[in-house]
Amino acid sequence: MSKKMAKGVSSTFVYILGAMFMLSFIFVFEAMLTVFSRFYSDALAKKLVHIERNTRGISNQEEAEIITSNCNLFEGSWVLDDDVIDPLYNTTTCPFIRKTFDCTNRPDRQYLKYKWQPTGCDLPRFDGRDILRRYKGKQIMFIGDSLSLNNYDSFLCLLYVSVPGMNYKTKLTNQSVTVIFEDYDVSVTLFNSLFLVDVEVEHIGKVLKLNSIKNGEIWKQADVLIFNTWLWWARRKPKQPWDYIENGGKLVKDMNRMAAFRRGLNTWAQWVETEVDLTKTKVFYQGEAASHHHGEDWGEPGVKGCSNQTTPVVGSIYPGGLPLPAQIVKQVLKNMTNSVYLLDITILSHLRKDGHPSNYNGYGGIDCTHFCLSGVPDTWNQLFYASLLTS
Ligand SMILES: *[C@@H]1O[C@H](CO)[C@@H](O)[C@H](O)[C@H]1NC(C)=O
Ligand SMILES: *[C@@H]1O[C@H](CO)[C@@H](O)[C@H](O)[C@H]1NC(C)=O
Ligand SMILES: *[C@@H]1O[C@H](CO)[C@@H](O)[C@H](O)[C@H]1NC(C)=O
Ligand SMILES: *[C@@H]1O[C@H](CO)[C@@H](O)[C@H](O)[C@H]1NC(C)=O
Repeated sequence: MSKKMAKGVSSTFVYILGAMFMLSFIFVFEAMLTVFSRFYSDALAKKLVHIERNTRGISNQEEAEIITSNCNLFEGSWVLDDDVIDPLYNTTTCPFIRKTFDCTNRPDRQYLKYKWQPTGCDLPRFDGRDILRRYKGKQIMFIGDSLSLNNYDSFLCLLYVSVPGMNYKTKLTNQSVTVIFEDYDVSVTLFNSLFLVDVEVEHIGKVLKLNSIKNGEIWKQADVLIFNTWLWWARRKPKQPWDYIENGGKLVKDMNRMAAFRRGLNTWAQWVETEVDLTKTKVFYQGEAASHHHGEDWGEPGVKGCSNQTTPVVGSIYPGGLPLPAQIVKQVLKNMTNSVYLLDITILSHLRKDGHPSNYNGYGGIDCTHFCLSGVPDTWNQLFYASLLTS
């Protein structure tokens, strides 16, 4: 046997010994948990087993790469997970839940127990500490409308509860809010932009400019960008926040909204490709979410709104199909050079007709557009985390 081979055999031997040691450790640990569970509640023991299963030696990145190679994270179904005992966070444990997303008063609690199960693999767990370490000295920026805010609040809460009692400070500008987690020097910003392209006040009124992105100068300084827009493109007066549209140098009173959306999104796409330093900044697009106003979309004709919904749509297919704006997003991204990672949350959010605040938010009124926190946006962020690790 050559020296090299001998070395190979002996290191294999060491490796096997190591693995046996690990395995026996795990057996002992699980046996201890079994004993432990006789004295303490089953629920607590289950929680511990869950934590232990997620800490067997390999790094989060390795784990995520194993999990996501060959698996579409966005294809799957919602399954009831009885191991879920408490929500990940609530208004007591997280100071960032805005009233509109606060479902403390909602009487049914089952909506908190659904887990997104991709068809081909398990989703890596969200590791807030890992994000805080990885992005030390950096800035993560969410840019978009109130669905970005929904996502942002969830992200802040998930980070915050991963390091209880962490120090933070808040910084406001006229267009943004930034939470700085001081112990880790990580900044998380929400930049308010309904259309991504500009709306400017001119002498004739407010003009939606389909070919201009002035705020990009601010955005491109961040290290991670996560964009979203659609909700306001369809709005009409009095909710429509512009008087004219400027399209390729021409001013019009109105135009086909899908065409306007496509035009605006193409401007954004071009801006990403020409202005963002993709060696420094990662770019994501948060796919269109889901409103639930018409039961026929999910196979319950006659049902109006989401008020009495307590379970998701069963299975992987949304009867109403993929909405047109989500198709436009896919087309526009296909036209780019792989510079943007699509967080394709559209279908999985559509399946969650039960996830909205409906009439239980802190304001009154019915909301079937945003999602309860804790809730569905936590899954968006779990997917965001998995994508951050592997993209
Ligand atoms: C939040 O959760 C904690 C611990 O799980 C619990 O003690 C507290 O009462 C909850 N607060 C609300 C408002 O539900
Ligand atoms: C916000 O402030 C910046 C300068 O600090 C200014 O250029 C911009 O026009 C302001 N935006 C709005 C919407 O008021
Ligand atoms: C919800 O259910 C209650 C009680 O069954 C009913 O009175 C109410 O009309 C339902 N609301 C909607 C929007 O379907
Ligand atoms: C692809 O990009 C070009 C250049 O921005 C644009 O003119 C074209 O409309 C885009 N195609 C689609 C399908 O969006």
